Amino acid sequence: MRTEEPRAVRLQDYAPPAFLIDEVTLEVELDPAATRVHARLKMRRNPDSKTPKAPLVLDGQKLVLHEVRIDGETLSANAYQADGEHLTIHEAPDAFTLETVTTCGPEANTALTGLYLSNGIYCTQCEAQGFRRITYYLDRPDVMAVFRTRIVADEKALPVLLSNGNLVKSGRLKGGKHFAEWHDPFPKPAYLFALVAGDLGHVEDKFVTASGREVTLRIFVERGNEDRCAYAMEALKRAMRWDEEVFGREYDLDIFMIVAVSAFNMGAMENKGLNIFNDKYVLARPDTATDADYAAIEAIIAHEYFHNWTGNRITCRDWFQLCLKEGLTVFRDQEFTSDMRSRPVKRIADVRLLRSHQFPEDQGPLAHPVRPESYIEINNFYTATVYEKGAELCRMIHTLAGPKRFRKGMDVYFERHDGHAATVEDFLDAISDGAGLDLAQFRRWYSQSGTPEVLVTGRYDAARETYTLKMTQVCAATPGQAIKDAYHIPIAVGLVGPDGKDMPLQLEGEEKPGGRTRVLSLTERTQSFRFRNVTEKPVPSLLRGFTAPVTLTANLKERDWVFLMAHDSDPFNRWEAAQRYSSGLLISMVEAVRTGGRRRRGVAFAEMVSNVLADKKIDPDFAAQMITLPGEQTIAQLIGKDVDVDAIHEAREALRASVAEEARDALTRAYERLRIDGPYSPEAAHAGRRALRNACLSYLAVAPGGDGVTLAARHFSEAGNMTNQIAGLTVLASIDCRERVEALDRFYGQWKGDHLVMDKWLAIQAMSSLPGTLGEVQRLLEHPAFTIRNPNKVRALIGNFATANQLRFHAADGAGYALVADKVLELDPLNPQVAARLLGAFKSWRQLEAGRRKLMSRQLQRIAGTEGISRDVFEIATKTLA
Ligand code: BES
Ligand code: ZN
Repeated sequence: MRTEEPRAVRLQDYAPPAFLIDEVTLEVELDPAATRVHARLKMRRNPDSKTPKAPLVLDGQKLVLHEVRIDGETLSANAYQADGEHLTIHEAPDAFTLETVTTCGPEANTALTGLYLSNGIYCTQCEAQGFRRITYYLDRPDVMAVFRTRIVADEKALPVLLSNGNLVKSGRLKGGKHFAEWHDPFPKPAYLFALVAGDLGHVEDKFVTASGREVTLRIFVERGNEDRCAYAMEALKRAMRWDEEVFGREYDLDIFMIVAVSAFNMGAMENKGLNIFNDKYVLARPDTATDADYAAIEAIIAHEYFHNWTGNRITCRDWFQLCLKEGLTVFRDQEFTSDMRSRPVKRIADVRLLRSHQFPEDQGPLAHPVRPESYIEINNFYTATVYEKGAELCRMIHTLAGPKRFRKGMDVYFERHDGHAATVEDFLDAISDGAGLDLAQFRRWYSQSGTPEVLVTGRYDAARETYTLKMTQVCAATPGQAIKDAYHIPIAVGLVGPDGKDMPLQLEGEEKPGGRTRVLSLTERTQSFRFRNVTEKPVPSLLRGFTAPVTLTANLKERDWVFLMAHDSDPFNRWEAAQRYSSGLLISMVEAVRTGGRRRRGVAFAEMVSNVLADKKIDPDFAAQMITLPGEQTIAQLIGKDVDVDAIHEAREALRASVAEEARDALTRAYERLRIDGPYSPEAAHAGRRALRNACLSYLAVAPGGDGVTLAARHFSEAGNMTNQIAGLTVLASIDCRERVEALDRFYGQWKGDHLVMDKWLAIQAMSSLPGTLGEVQRLLEHPAFTIRNPNKVRALIGNFATANQLRFHAADGAGYALVADKVLELDPLNPQVAARLLGAFKSWRQLEAGRRKLMSRQLQRIAGTEGISRDVFEIATKTLA
C-alpha cells in the first residue's frame, strides 16, 4: 500500500486564487535531456482573494529550479522553498514580475503530459495539469493570461517551431540554432498552452469567415503523411462553417493549426489555435482508414474546433466544472455529425455509447455526478458521465427549450461570459434567462449521480376513448448519495394506432389535438398524462429519440415490440423496439442454454431483417443498425447479476446463425446489390452501403451449411479499401481455419510499415472469440508491432481485449484478469493516466458470478496493495473495491 493516502480535492473548498497572472513570457530552449525554460510572469494580488497576505504558491512538478527573481532581483535561498509539488515564495509584493529558470526532461517523459517527445517531435499536453511540468505556475483554469512564447532549437533537426496564436518573429541564431516567437492575444488558462517542434510536413488551406476575414489553416504531420490530411482539412472547414451557421460563432485568430502525433494519451486536445491530435484522428486514406475512422476524424476535428468557443473563449472556473466545456462540446459535435450525416444513425450510436459506457459507470462503484464533488486525480474524471451524460443534459435543455430558444440562451451565455472562467450555474442561468426556461429542478441532474428509472403503465379506456400513461421515477442509491430528489425528465411520446400510423395527440385540458409526438415533462415522482379522443387502442412509443438518459420499463409485450419495430415513425424507437425484442429473446435463450431448456429461434427478428433488406427506401446505414443484434456486453448488462459470459456468447451465436438461416435469401441478395463498383468515397451514403453490406457478410459467414469462410476470405482479398478489408478480416479472425492465418499474415505483410494499420491488426486479434486468444495476446505483447510505451498500442491490444472481448477476458480461470492487471502494474510507473484507464475494465466486477467476482477482486486488491502505485491507479482501484 502507499505510505501516504492521496488527498481528495473538494468542490466546496474552492477559493479564488491569491494571485493573478496577466502576462506570461516564456523562453524555451529545447533539449531532449534538459530543456531550459525561462519564464517571466507579470503578477499581482487578486483583489477578490480572501487571503490578502498569503504567500505565493506556484505549482511545479519534475522541474529542476535554477533561479528565482522578483522584479529583476535574484531571491536568496531562504526567501523561497521548493518541493516536488510547489515553489513557495514567502513574501511577495502586490504587483511584480516573477522570473524563474528551470529545466525539464522531455526525453525521459513517458507519462506524455507536459513537454515530451513523440517520435522525435517535441509536443505538449497540458490539460488538466501538465503545464506545471514545464514551468512553475498557477496551474488552474481560473488564472488566465496572455502568452508570448519564444522557442529556440536546432534548425536542422527541428525546422518547424509552433505555439499558440500568431507568429510574430522568427530567425537564425548562431551555432545552427533558430527561433520563433508566438503571441496569443486571448487570455487563456495554462492548460490551453501548446508548443510543438519537429521536422514536420504540412498541408495548407484557407477559410473565409462569415464576416470576411481570411484564416490560414495548416495541418502538420510527420513527413510522408501529407497525402493523408485531405479529409481532416475538409472536415475542419465544414466544422468552421457549421459553427457560424448554427451557433453564430466565428473563428478569432488569423491562423488555425493542427498537429498530428503518434504518442498521445487521449484523442485530441483543443489548445488555442494549435490543436494537437492523436494521429489516428487526422490521417486517412481509403486504403488505410475505415469508414469508422473517417467518421471519427470528422467528429473529433469538429469537437476540438468547437472548444474554441465552448472551453477556450469561455473556460471553466475549476475542474469540477469540466462538463461545462466537455458535455456542451460533445453535444455540439453530436449535432454537427447529425447535420453532416444521418441524424437517426448518430443518435443510435450515441445512445449505444451512453448505455455501454455511462450506464455501467453510473450504476457501479465509480458513479459520480456530471459535476463531481471531489476527486483524487482529475485525470480520472474525464469520464463517460462528464462527457456523454453531460452532453445528454445539454440535449435535454435543448429539447425543453426548442432550437430557437436554446440558441437565444447560448447567445446570452457567450455574451455574458466571453473571456472568463465560468461555472455550471453561470451556464444554466444564462440559458434560463435567454431561453425563458425554468431550470430550477433540472439542475439536480448535475449534482445527483445514478441513472433514473422510469416505470410506465399505459391504460386504454375504450368507453371514454382515453389513453393514460402513468409514469413513476426512481433512482437507486449511488456511492455517497442514498436518497435522490425527483428529476425533471423530458419524455417524448407518440401513440401508434393499429394501422401503424401515429395518432393525433390531445392531452386532457387541450382544446384540440397538436402534433403526433409530444414532449411530456415528468417532474413528480409519479404523474399521469391522459390523452383524449383516442378512438382505438394504441401502442405507445415512449422516449422517442431517447429524450432523457434514463432506463425505461413499460408494460409492453413482445408483440408490441414486434409491432413497433415494423411501424414506429420515430427511427430511434424503431431501432429500440428491435433491440428490446431481440434482447428479450436473447435473455430467454441464455436461460435455456444454462438450464438445457428449449431454445427459441427469433423468427420475428429474421422476418424484420428480410423486410428491412427488401425495403429500397430505407437508409442503408439505418438498416445496418436495425439488423444488428445487441452485443454480448449489452446482454450481460441487462441480466445484471451472476453474469455467465459463456452462455451469453453461445445464445447470441445461436441466434445469429438462426437469423442468417431464416433470412439467407434476403441477406445474399442485399450483399450482391449493395456492392459499390468504382472508386472509394468516405461520404456517408457510400459508408452506409458498406455498413449494411458488411453487416450482411457477418450473418452470411455464420449461416449454417453455407461457405462463410470462402465468402469472408474473398471479401477480404477483393476489398479495395480498408473498410472492407477489416470487415473480412474481423469475420475470419473468429473462425478457426487456414484462411484466418493466411489473411492475418497477408495483412501483416502488407501493412507492417504503417503503425496505425498495425493497431487494427492487433485489435482484431485481441477481439477474436477463439479460445486461443489470451495466448495470442500474450505473444503479441512481445511482437515488434507492440510497445507498451505507445498508448494507441496499449488500447489496441490490451484495451480491446479487456473491454471488447467479454468472452475471453472473463475466462473462468482468471487468466484474462491476471494478464490485464500485470499490464496495469507494468504501465503505471511509465504512464499512470493510461494505466488507470485500463483498470477501468474491472469496474463491473460485482455483477459477475461468484467465481469470477472473487478472481477479479483479488487482482484489484493486488493492485491496490502494490507499493508506490500512482494516485491515478490508487483512486480507481480503491473506489472500485469500495
Ligand atoms: N480536452 C479534451 C482532451 C483531454 C482530455 C485532455 C483529458 C486532457 C485530459 C478534448 O477536447 C477531448 O475531449 N477529447 C476527446 C475526444 C472528443 C471527441 C470527445 C478525447 O481525447 O477522447
Ligand atoms: Zn473536449
